[in-house]
Amino acid sequence: MTTGTRTLGTTGPQVSALGLGCMGMSALYGGADRAESIATLHAALEAGVTLLDTGDFYGMGHNELLIGEALRAAPAAHREQALISVKFGALRDPDGAWAGYDGRPAAVKNFAAYSLQRLGTDHIDVYRIARVDPDVPIEETVGAIAELVERGYVRHIGLSEVGAETLRRAAATAPITDLQIEYSLISRGIEDEILPTARALGVAVTAYGVLSRGLISGHFTPDRQLAAGDFRSFSPRFQGDNLRHNLDLVEALRKIAEQKGVTVAQIAIAWVLSRGEDIVPLVGARRRDRLAEALGALEVRLDQADLAAIEEAVPVGAAAGDRYPSAQMAHLDSER
Ligand SMILES: NC(=O)c1ccc[n+]([C@@H]2O[C@H](COP(=O)([O-])OP(=O)(O)OC[C@H]3O[C@@H](n4cnc5c(N)ncnc54)[C@H](OP(=O)(O)O)[C@@H]3O)[C@@H](O)[C@H]2O)c1
Repeated sequence: MTTGTRTLGTTGPQVSALGLGCMGMSALYGGADRAESIATLHAALEAGVTLLDTGDFYGMGHNELLIGEALRAAPAAHREQALISVKFGALRDPDGAWAGYDGRPAAVKNFAAYSLQRLGTDHIDVYRIARVDPDVPIEETVGAIAELVERGYVRHIGLSEVGAETLRRAAATAPITDLQIEYSLISRGIEDEILPTARALGVAVTAYGVLSRGLISGHFTPDRQLAAGDFRSFSPRFQGDNLRHNLDLVEALRKIAEQKGVTVAQIAIAWVLSRGEDIVPLVGARRRDRLAEALGALEVRLDQADLAAIEEAVPVGAAAGDRYPSAQMAHLDSER
């Protein structure tokens, strides 16, 4: 199978049409199997996936160490083609509690120094703050990353979950390759203003949550037991009546998937792929079978009739519940 490629904005690198989001291998979705995570990373590289997404706060460094270990054990050709996208800035307590964001220039350089060590690389391909630090103008945070670019420690600058105005201010400070932001059949908030702004600025979108954290994967069942600390145990979309309503949408999607002889997850990923060549879905596979399913989406062709049927099954705004709990919604510059 070939994954095909897409380009990250007017100034960024070519990447595989699907990226691998590694968060769930370390955090937020309950326990993950370390050996299977590494096998999944290797299978992704083998299949031609070049974009690996992580955050220094995913398991407090665990995810970067895992990626570093997987890359060291991978064939040189695969290692050399890997592009690592790192988010920084989220502060944690020793017990894992979230403690705000730090986008001060000195902190940016400090975060980068630690990430380079954990990843075992001499540069980070795309570097971005996970959430805007409300106390630090975005120009200062992006300016600090631009300095790291000049010094060769970072290749490209990205953004995460910012709104149109912040996107414009950041792009006026330094070239921005991509905006990482949630985008899926049931999270279409970027379509009115943020996506057109990104397009006008030549900034790509790396879309996360294309399966809405598993909710629209076709594998999530109402009786699924979630581990303590699993994001989904406090995400509004996974609670009570909201969950029942949202899983009804999945059943409507399943009918379309079955008619096409593909899976629900493949329809959901293929739909995001169909939204533009400047959009690169990050899939959160942490097992080889899930990865294989996700990669299968690259073979799915959605014609106008398919797209109309999908829109009818899951109209804009169809989901019940916000995409984050209210305290976390408040950190989203993209939701202002
Ligand atoms: N910038 C940001 O604010 C931000 C926020 C969140 C995530 N991200 C990045 O985006 C990446 C993707 O996000 P995500 O993990 O929430 O997205 P996702 O791909 O929507 O959800 C992943 C979940 O879907 C389940 N799933 C079921 N079938 C799958 C399949 N065929 N392929 C992949 N997953 C399948 C997984 O299953 P199992 O439970 O069976 O493993 C996992 O729990 C993350 O890893 C992270 O790198 C960025």
